[in-house]
Amino acid sequence: MEIHVSLIGRRNLSREIYRQLRESIMEGRLRAGDALPPTREMAQRLGVARSTVMIAYDRLLAEGFISARVGAGTFVSALPNRASADQKRPAKRSVLAPRPVWDTMSVAFAQPVTYDFRSGHPDATFFPHDTWDRLLRRALRSSAVASGIYGHPAGLDALREAIARHVGISRGVVCSADDVTITNGTQQAVDVVARVLLAPGDRAAVEDPGYRPIRWLLTSLGVRVACVPVDRDGLVVDKLPRGTRLVHVTPSHHYPLGVSMSLARRLDLLAWAERTDAAIVEDDYDSEFRFDGRPIEPLQALDTAGRVIYVGTFSKTLLPALRLGFVVTPPSLREAMHSAKYVADCHASIPAQVALARFIDEGHFARHIRKMSAVYRERHKLVTECIARDFAERLEVVPSSVGLHFAALARRASAPFIDRVVQRALARGVGIYPLARFAVHHPAAGLIIAYGAIPTALVDEGLSQLRRAFDQR
Ligand SMILES: Cc1ncc(COP(=O)(O)O)c(C=O)c1O
Repeated sequence: MEIHVSLIGRRNLSREIYRQLRESIMEGRLRAGDALPPTREMAQRLGVARSTVMIAYDRLLAEGFISARVGAGTFVSALPNRASADQKRPAKRSVLAPRPVWDTMSVAFAQPVTYDFRSGHPDATFFPHDTWDRLLRRALRSSAVASGIYGHPAGLDALREAIARHVGISRGVVCSADDVTITNGTQQAVDVVARVLLAPGDRAAVEDPGYRPIRWLLTSLGVRVACVPVDRDGLVVDKLPRGTRLVHVTPSHHYPLGVSMSLARRLDLLAWAERTDAAIVEDDYDSEFRFDGRPIEPLQALDTAGRVIYVGTFSKTLLPALRLGFVVTPPSLREAMHSAKYVADCHASIPAQVALARFIDEGHFARHIRKMSAVYRERHKLVTECIARDFAERLEVVPSSVGLHFAALARRASAPFIDRVVQRALARGVGIYPLARFAVHHPAAGLIIAYGAIPTALVDEGLSQLRRAFDQR
């Protein structure tokens, strides 16, 4: 461990070394059992004579702060009544203020619940831990990691190729590996795209209701964000304000309403982008799971004008904790995407990229999606049937046969009443989100009902707890 000792402007060097080490021990920065560097090494590092360090160590030894073990080294002793580092550290002054924009977001982190109907969570218990563990260990020994140098900002060639093949086959996305940039999830993909295309003060549009982290991201970059309504055909293209440079949409499975954008609307949106010289960010976050009907054609595949940026993620197909996603951009943005990704964080973790490339190439990914599709299909059926039957008087299901959630609109209840139901449900161990939380202008009363994380065996009990939360006075 590097122990910081500063001798700048000091006179009695032995005393300074003694004093600073003693303070680190007393304040808990150095803990019982921590090794001190050998005197020769410490002297070299500080640019002092070895005897200067030995005097300091001898004094610490004599006072019992450290002990020496022959052949092993010098270690910090266990001291009674020593303050924890946090207790003793002087409080920093609170004078720096964040920009006001950071007060406009209610970023929250999900806590575990017994019955998890919250959107955004896949079932982590099915994740193939052993295979991933094996591939990750192999990846740590791969040449891409062992070289010790930074990687290319666009990501590992093998992974870009695997993704280009995967989205080509499974989604009909038209691209080559050169068009793919690996990112830390969707969130970073949109961040990098926004840096490439938007300047502070530019106009962008998001869906309302919609996925809040993207609205917050764009706002934090100084972009003026319009919230555009969504109906059962998807984003209402006619309501896009003049001057919009970029629009973020979830056409395959709207978040949170669960509807798919109709073909007519998709064609309208593409025509709008061409007419107004704008960009479309297509966020295809969970449409690998489809239980009915034909897959809808991605905007990216319909686009002949080079205006669509396609974003995918492994957060639903594998795990959100991996923070792995990708973006497919038109060739005109390629170089700028690489520079922007480099500026953001150089590149995604290489061991994770190597492991994922092999995971896809060896067929584990396709197998996992097949397995999870069967699991989620069963839950989708179970949960929608139960809501349609047992909540018929209270909720109207918005039909959806893709992804890991659907929406249910309240038949009579108001949005504040639904908020109270959500609070009562939480007290009963049920995690569920109100629809209104995701709207800016027209909050609809209703719930987002997700079935990704709830074990099939707990669905009945979880929904009966939800029913009690509705009935509670
Ligand atoms: C609309 C939408 N996009 C993307 C994501 C996933 O984001 P990320 O890939 O950053 O984990 C989610 C997660 O719930 C989402 O709802």
